[in-house]
Amino acid sequence: MSGLPPERRAARGGGPSFGEEDRRLSYGSYLKIAELLQLQQPLTDAHDELLFITIHQAYELWFKLVLFELESAREAMQAGDCPTSQWRLKRVTVIESLLIHQVDVLDTMAPQDFLQFRHRLAPASGFQSVQFREIEFLSGLKDPAYLRRLETDSGERARLERRLAEPSLADAFAALLEASGSSIESLFNDPGRRDLFQLSESLLEHDQAFSLWRARHVQMVERQIGSKTGTGGSTGSSYLRSRLDKRFFPELWAARSSL
Ligand code: HEM
Repeated sequence: MSGLPPERRAARGGGPSFGEEDRRLSYGSYLKIAELLQLQQPLTDAHDELLFITIHQAYELWFKLVLFELESAREAMQAGDCPTSQWRLKRVTVIESLLIHQVDVLDTMAPQDFLQFRHRLAPASGFQSVQFREIEFLSGLKDPAYLRRLETDSGERARLERRLAEPSLADAFAALLEASGSSIESLFNDPGRRDLFQLSESLLEHDQAFSLWRARHVQMVERQIGSKTGTGGSTGSSYLRSRLDKRFFPELWAARSSL
């Protein structure tokens, strides 16, 4: 039986114990469920707006974890610890696979149903997702132009400035190669440094997953709004298509051509 004092044990009548008698912590209080469920506040009565809010919030939660794991992968690289870095990246790519498939849920929304609340969204857009941009910067795809779109004194801008200044995963991997007397060219055929090659493959998988998400997102966008401009003010799908070839580790892709 639990560590309850005898008088409380007697009061409970001796049934199976699941810990409810100790009210200090519960599922709801630990996970802040009440607070979490307060955060979905549609602007209209449109049926599909709750889905739209929920899916974006779910993405942001996963982005938070992805950033946490990528930072840890970078730290392990900086410490010369390839296996730990690779282990962190494994979780990242499994989450990213989930993020790609999560788009399927949005495909259950009909374009005419989206139009019932779309007019209320502008100028808000996924384009303003700071965590998404942080993932890009932290991975190696740094574009200071995105900073100009954020207010100077906002915390979001400060976060992106920090990401711009700090070493990316691409920088950390390049430094690791240099410190081990290796290079992208020798990486693929060095039996003594299999760990470096395997880490480079994990980085590539992260890059590939992001690229697949971009492709899946633009396809969903075209299914919803065709060639209309975005609520964020861009040209919409043609802007998104212009970003499909972006890569975090272009050298790792290019190296394939000269093997
Ligand atoms: C009906 C659903 C959606 C539509 C119609 C849509 C549409 C668009 C459009 C048109 C853009 C280009 C920027 C603009 O002018 O607004 C964009 C960018 C973006 N969207 Fe979505 N989106 C949808 C759902 C999502 C979801 C669920 C996410 C998840 C976080 C997301 C994340 C992003 C991101 C990160 C960008 C910036 C991409 C980049 O700059 O490369 N979008 N979206």
